[in-house]
Amino acid sequence: MKLHLLSCLASAAILAATSPLEIRQAPNPSASVDTGSLTGTTTTFASSTATVNQFLGIPFGSKPPRFSPPAAAPKWSGIYDASKYKPACVQQFSYPQETRDFIIAVFNTPPPPAGEDEDCLNLNVFAPAATVGAALKPVMFWIYGGAFSFGAGSLPLYDGSHFAADQDIVIVTINYRTNIFGFPGYPNQPANQQNLGLLDQRLALDWTRRNIKAFGGDPDKITIFGESAGAGSVDTLVTDPPKPVPFRAAIMESGQASIIAQNTDSRDSWNKLAANLSKTPEDAVATVEAMPATQLKALVEELELTFFPVKGDGATWSATPRRDRQNSTAANPIIARVPILIGSNANEGTIYAAPENATAYGDFNFQCPAKYVGEESIAAGIPTWRYYFNATFPNNTPFVGAGAFHSSEVPEVFGTYKENAQTTTRQRDLSKAMMKAWADFAKDPTQGPGWAQAPRIGVFGGDGQPVFQEVDAEAVDQGRCAQYKVIYDTYIPI
Ligand SMILES: *[C@@H]1O[C@H](CO)[C@@H](O)[C@H](O)[C@H]1NC(C)=O
Ligand SMILES: *[C@@H]1O[C@H](CO)[C@@H](O)[C@H](O)[C@H]1NC(C)=O
Ligand SMILES: *[C@@H]1O[C@H](CO)[C@@H](O)[C@H](O)[C@H]1NC(C)=O
Ligand SMILES: *[C@@H]1O[C@H](CO)[C@@H](O)[C@H](O)[C@H]1NC(C)=O
Repeated sequence: MKLHLLSCLASAAILAATSPLEIRQAPNPSASVDTGSLTGTTTTFASSTATVNQFLGIPFGSKPPRFSPPAAAPKWSGIYDASKYKPACVQQFSYPQETRDFIIAVFNTPPPPAGEDEDCLNLNVFAPAATVGAALKPVMFWIYGGAFSFGAGSLPLYDGSHFAADQDIVIVTINYRTNIFGFPGYPNQPANQQNLGLLDQRLALDWTRRNIKAFGGDPDKITIFGESAGAGSVDTLVTDPPKPVPFRAAIMESGQASIIAQNTDSRDSWNKLAANLSKTPEDAVATVEAMPATQLKALVEELELTFFPVKGDGATWSATPRRDRQNSTAANPIIARVPILIGSNANEGTIYAAPENATAYGDFNFQCPAKYVGEESIAAGIPTWRYYFNATFPNNTPFVGAGAFHSSEVPEVFGTYKENAQTTTRQRDLSKAMMKAWADFAKDPTQGPGWAQAPRIGVFGGDGQPVFQEVDAEAVDQGRCAQYKVIYDTYIPI
C-alpha cells in the first residue's frame, strides 16, 4: 500500500468567484518594507464597513535560478506597483487527458490572473485599513494545497479580502515552487536543498515576520494555515520549525506531515525524465536546467511524473515528525509547541476514489491521520482542537455524490464561495461561523476556536443539521480508525 498521505489535490478554484458586491475605490494605500516602498489598492464589501487594503504580488524572493534555493528579493528604488497580482509558479497538470481536464476544471478555473513564471516568489497582503493609533492585528499566513504539484496564492478562491474585512485580521497568501521546479530530485543535490518549495515557504514566513508591521499586522501574532499539501507544509513547520519559532499557532485543513512514509518520488521521476532524454541522471541536469520552462512543464505532464518533498532533509522536514511530537515536552520541546486546530471533511475521498472506496480512501489518508495527530498533540500537552466539515452546497458540487469533498471547506473559510442564485443563507451563516472560529483561534490561540479541546470536535454541519455543534470524537470517528492505526504504526517507523 502506498502511504502517500499528502499526495493529494488541494484547492478548488471552480468554487471561487469574486463577489458581485465588491466595489473598488481610491485612494491607493502605501507601505514601506525592507526592500522598498509600494502602493496597493483597496476593496470594500456591502456586508462590512471595513475597507481592506490589498498589496498584491510583493516580491519576497528574487527570481530563483532553476533548482536553486530561494534568496531574498533585491531592493528597488521608486514605488513598486502592488495593485495587481504577479505570476504564479509553474504548475503541473498531468495527463491522462481526463484527469488533467478534471483537475484543471476543479482547481485552476479561472487560472492565476497573471499567468505562470519561474519568477514567482511573491506574496499578497490583505489588511484592514488602519485607523490611527489602532493596535497591530493578528496575522494569518496561508499555504495553498495542490499535491505539491500546482497551486497559486493569487487564485480568487484565496482572495483574503473577505476574511480580512469580516474578521479584522491581516491575511497573507504566498507562492512557493511545486513539482519539478520545487522538488526536482536530481542526483547529488545538497541534502538541505531538496525541498526548494518548502524553503520558499520559510523565506515568505521570514519576510512576513520582518515586514508585516508595515501593513498593521503584529509579527508576534502569526498563525500559519493551509489545506492538503498546504496543511502538510504547516505540519513540517510545526514539527521541524525555524528557530526562533516565527508563528504562535497552526491550522491544518485536511493534511499533515507526521503520519506519512518516506518517499522517493522526486528521485524516481528525475530518473524517468533522464531516460526520456536518453541521458544518465547526472548528465540530464545540464539539459533540464537549459530547457525552456514551458517545455519542461509539458514534458513532466506528458510523462505523468510526481515530485514530492523528502523527509529528513535536515532543513524543512524532520525524518521523525510523529515521534518528535510524541516526545515533545515543555522542558524539551523538539517541535513548536503552539496550539493547533486540525480537521478534515466528511467525504474527502470522493474526488479520488470510486464511490465504493471513497470512505476508506478518505479515512486512511485524511480523517484518521487528523484524529491521531490531534490525539498525539494533546497527549504531548499541546492545546489542540479538532473540527469536522460536513456541509455541502449546491454552488460547490463538482459532480453528483461529491459530498463534503476534499478542499470543499476552503471557500467557506475564505468567504469566497460563489454568490449566485444558488447561494443560501445557510451557506453564508456557515462561512461566517468558520471565518469567526479560525480568526478567534488566531486572535487568542490559547482560548481556541470556540469549542472544547480534543477529543471533542466542532462540526460544521450538513443539511438538516445545525450550522455548528460540538460532539464527542466517537460521533465522528465511529471506531473506523483503529484498523488504519495498525498500518501507520507498522509501515511508518517512528
Ligand atoms: C519522451 O516522452 C515523450 C512524451 O511522452 C514521448 O513522446 C517520447 O517518445 C519520449 N522519448 C523517449 C526517448 O522515451
Ligand atoms: C522518543 O520516543 C521514542 C519512542 O517513541 C523513544 O524510543 C526515544 O527514546 C525517545 N527519545 C527521546 C529523546 O525522548
Ligand atoms: C476499490 O478498491 C479495491 C481494493 O483496493 C480495488 O480492488 C477495486 O478495484 C476498487 N474499486 C474501484 C471501482 O476502483
Ligand atoms: C454529516 O451529515 C450527514 C447528513 O448530511 C449526517 O447523516 C451525519 O450524521 C453528519 N455527521 C456528523 C458527524 O455530524
